[in-house]
Amino acid sequence: MSSEILTKALSIKDYLTQVRRHLHQHPELGMKEYETTAFIHKELTAMGIEVVPIKADTGVLGIIQGEKPGPATVTALRADIDALPILEKTGLPYASKNEGVMHACGHEGHTTILLGVAKLLNSMRDKFSGTIKLIFQPGEETLLGAKSMVAAGVLENPPVDTIVALHAWPQIEVGTIGVWPGPYMASADKFTFKVFGGGGHGAYPHRSRDPLLAATYAVQAVNTIISREVDAADKVAISVCTIHGGTAFNIIPEEVVFTGTVRCHDNTVRNSIKEKMERIVGGVVAAFGCGYELDYEYGIPPVVNHPEVIKLVSQAADQALGENHVIQLDRPVMGSEDFSCFLEKVPYGAFFRLGVKAKGAEEMRVHNDHFDFDDDALPVGVAVLTQFVLNKNQS
Ligand code: NI
Repeated sequence: MSSEILTKALSIKDYLTQVRRHLHQHPELGMKEYETTAFIHKELTAMGIEVVPIKADTGVLGIIQGEKPGPATVTALRADIDALPILEKTGLPYASKNEGVMHACGHEGHTTILLGVAKLLNSMRDKFSGTIKLIFQPGEETLLGAKSMVAAGVLENPPVDTIVALHAWPQIEVGTIGVWPGPYMASADKFTFKVFGGGGHGAYPHRSRDPLLAATYAVQAVNTIISREVDAADKVAISVCTIHGGTAFNIIPEEVVFTGTVRCHDNTVRNSIKEKMERIVGGVVAAFGCGYELDYEYGIPPVVNHPEVIKLVSQAADQALGENHVIQLDRPVMGSEDFSCFLEKVPYGAFFRLGVKAKGAEEMRVHNDHFDFDDDALPVGVAVLTQFVLNKNQS
């Protein structure tokens, strides 16, 4: 038996499917979602929902005011709207028309779901109090979009108390959601080491200071930080992912550059890595008579789900979908999500997973040229978020 809200969500399934496929056909890269922005703007306006002007080239902020007397709670829902530089190979009738760009992470599904929630909530203004902010965020994949929306003031005026987002998850079935309280996704920071010595002839290495040899030892030493410098029980990943140097097989180069990423679930650990890295790499390259420069860029913080909000999301899902549709995820992940930039400002929030694996189907992978968002998951996402808002903004 369907709940009232799921029935309402299912009643707009044709609209949702049509919107999702339209967006899938017209993907745009992060921070360049001009048509997508115009489309969202047009849809919200057609629903009679206020679109607030913001200082950002792409992205949309919609606002719905509840009409039920009650507390002035401000709840924000966020959807990311950008696509990826991938050549789509699904062969679907609604495959990307923008060659080399593809919605391969389900963000068109997230956008559609938020439009669906907007539609339902707008028709039920008398059922909730306070304010609902609909944040359509650009550039999640570039990790620039959430920062741009925060800078544009979407969390202010009125200030947001609670914020929630969902993301497609092909590891769990359509009709379910997955939750994890506490730290769930990692921070993402970038380091660039430049190791310099003195170049020379490959035949006379004793006359040079070899930055290439020093860099190879430094790369290995960086990999000892986890367990030797950081408690093995802490969730940290450090990977050196590029190394460049040299021009010819018989010339020792002047300098070698290597770059990599640091992922952490805890900000205290995160803030300790740079010093450890600098000390270790500095010591190693000095042993070879070389010097170094470090450029350490702090990117985005970890996604930390507030346990109470995870509980509220789970309760909303129980109500909207029936019992046993909430899956406790078995582990957090080391990937990153810039929703964390919102959570940093509004810690009373949660990021949860929406099942998109068709029953009995093989698991699809996101960021893959064959990925497709299952349309059956659209009303499920709409129902959970709508129920969440109705519960949150009337007590
Ligand atoms: Ni994504």
